[in-house]
Amino acid sequence: MDEYFLLGRSGLRVSRLALGTMNFGTGGFHAAYGLREEQAAPIFHRYLDAGGNLIDTADFYTAGESEEMLGRLIAGVREKLVLTSKFTNSVDPGDPNAGGNGRKHMIRAVEDSLRRLRTDYLDLFLLHTWDRLTPIEEVLHTFDDLAAAGKIRYAGLSDVPAWYAARAQTLASRPLVTLQLPYSLIDRAIETEHVAAGQELGLGITAWSPLAGGFLTGKYRSGDSGRLAGQSWTEQQWNLLSVLEKVSRELDVTMAQVALNWVITQPGVAAAIVGASSAAQLDTSLAALDFELPAELRASLDEASAIPPAKPYSMFTPEYQSWIINVGAKVGDKPTGYQPPVRNWAR
Ligand SMILES: NC(=O)c1ccc[n+]([C@@H]2O[C@H](COP(=O)([O-])OP(=O)(O)OC[C@H]3O[C@@H](n4cnc5c(N)ncnc54)[C@H](OP(=O)(O)O)[C@@H]3O)[C@@H](O)[C@H]2O)c1
Repeated sequence: MDEYFLLGRSGLRVSRLALGTMNFGTGGFHAAYGLREEQAAPIFHRYLDAGGNLIDTADFYTAGESEEMLGRLIAGVREKLVLTSKFTNSVDPGDPNAGGNGRKHMIRAVEDSLRRLRTDYLDLFLLHTWDRLTPIEEVLHTFDDLAAAGKIRYAGLSDVPAWYAARAQTLASRPLVTLQLPYSLIDRAIETEHVAAGQELGLGITAWSPLAGGFLTGKYRSGDSGRLAGQSWTEQQWNLLSVLEKVSRELDVTMAQVALNWVITQPGVAAAIVGASSAAQLDTSLAALDFELPAELRASLDEASAIPPAKPYSMFTPEYQSWIINVGAKVGDKPTGYQPPVRNWAR
């Protein structure tokens, strides 16, 4: 955790493990598994003590409580943090302009987030989800205006189609720096288009739910308890869990650590956003950077979690390309790192 990396094609230095705060607070959508402040505070302080600087929240997490709690927790350390929040989700179902990605809601959302977070600016302001309606030019102009007004330092996108991210970055006068997307051994869908888009466009990918909400820790195998109990998992996913367990035994680390290490060292990934319901859980996650995943063990995880690509994506695989196109028959290995580390920054 004492190494920081540049986020996308920017000069912003961030930790490779971000702290997710979707479960800070007990209100709204996440009420069932939310934390009270006395439970959340030790997690936050443990993250900071370990050297972490990238904090992720959103206006609608726990109906605004996550931001309010963070507003109190960041007092005195705010300047060291890369504070991220997001807008899109409706804050008033009766008002069509109280959600979505239009300029009116974006400006209202940032003002509300700043008030709850008790700060003058956000380091990162992200569009939370594509609303299918708002022209990207309007979103980009509003990002620009908010940056010029000193309310945000950098902007990015979360949960958008790759073509939309490409269009946004192509039109942006102030480049976007990040793409926040779901990514784990359970869910590798972004490898189809988003990873290449991020690498090509200078958008560092931050991976949400890197433990698949806790499934990859191995604790749900009995299927009879906990937050994910109602979910149905496929045979491939149960099989993946046994491969993950085998790898973790060989390396003498936990399954969660292997799962996180895999995500963080995948091409294009800037950071994994970890969630925790206790400081002890967070400790486990923070140690995920302390070992190297040997190539043969990574290959076994890759194989167990692979989703065979559909057409046309199956035509872009190295095997297909060297067989039918036969140009550059020797295809290079995928890069293992993201960018050179900036060591001991701000410590
Ligand atoms: N942009 C988006 O649309 C989006 C969507 C979702 C999330 N996010 C962001 O991503 C963050 C992380 O998401 P997530 O919470 O789904 O991530 P996750 O890392 O996949 O799951 C975290 C959960 O797994 C369990 N866990 C973690 N470490 C564990 C350990 N060592 N042993 C056993 N259980 C452990 C805990 O839940 P229990 O103890 O309750 O089992 C914890 O809350 C969120 O806080 C949010 O900031 C963004």
